[in-house]
Amino acid sequence: MSDNNIKPSNRATQVESFKVMDVLRRANQLEAEGRTIYHCEVGQPESGAPKTVAQAAVTALTGDANQSRLGYTDAFGLVELREKIAEHYKEKYSLPADKEVGADRIVVTTGSSGGFLLAFTACFDAGDVIAVASSGYPCYRNIGGALGLELANVPINEEFKLTANELRKEVDERKASGKKRIRGVILSSPSNPTGAMLSVTELKDMCELCEKKASGFSLTRSTTVSVMTKKRQLPCHLVDPINTLQQNMFINAPTISQTAAIQCWEPETIAELETHVAKYRKSREFILKQLDSISEIKSIAPADGGFYVYIDLGEELVCRERDWEV
Ligand SMILES: Cc1ncc(COP(=O)(O)O)c(C=O)c1O
Repeated sequence: MSDNNIKPSNRATQVESFKVMDVLRRANQLEAEGRTIYHCEVGQPESGAPKTVAQAAVTALTGDANQSRLGYTDAFGLVELREKIAEHYKEKYSLPADKEVGADRIVVTTGSSGGFLLAFTACFDAGDVIAVASSGYPCYRNIGGALGLELANVPINEEFKLTANELRKEVDERKASGKKRIRGVILSSPSNPTGAMLSVTELKDMCELCEKKASGFSLTRSTTVSVMTKKRQLPCHLVDPINTLQQNMFINAPTISQTAAIQCWEPETIAELETHVAKYRKSREFILKQLDSISEIKSIAPADGGFYVYIDLGEELVCRERDWEV
């Protein structure tokens, strides 16, 4: 059979590339050719894993039979890790007994990207409309597109946020023009790329709007994707579908990562991570101060919750062509 007979699916050819990764690929090529590259493209921590976590990964890989952990775990992840995550939620958010999230509602996924794939597949059917922020993490759109979801692009407000006000406007406009109703909304706080965070009141307003029948969708199907090794808090009725999807799509999140993540709550780990946060805080303050002195910059997102900064350069400074291609 010739290679030409293997045609890519429409969904594969229609999905947009993740531009950050295009830039990274080109930067890596140039680096391999001997050019000096300062990587500003991918938003990722520059500090490595805390020592305790790294050591646990080494032990899981090279330890003796009692210590090494290389096989599969439950599809939902190691019970010990999920119990620690449940405990973390309880303590960090001072949850009352009736609001506690049990370990049985936590699934450890392969990155939050794996979490989105599971959550979108479990919550929506092809043809469903999901609302996304006009300036948001691009893969929400692209994963949604690959799954056959339709997108409602909701413009963010002056504070770089998607709040209930913007969503309500979109819902009303769609209703008035007879468009399909929105089935779900994808929110991230802090947002990437803007770094803006929703306040407690803004989150409550959003939940209230989503719970109203008239808005056409309901947050009763909400899931939380949190970034750590990534953990998700599942509504009870999604537990079985997500279990089945995870079994089939990923089997389980990497066992070594899960084993290492158990160390995340050790006092030594927390102390080390706090030094990383302090360092990022200092860098962010420095960058924001420097940017403030550049007159061409029209406005800067608040960067409340990120270690990245989102800037409005205005039309005239935007490079529309692939000028970065050397
Ligand atoms: C909002 C958001 N979601 C998801 C991801 C991807 O995360 P992961 O590496 O956990 O898949 C990123 C990465 O930058 C992100 O900013």
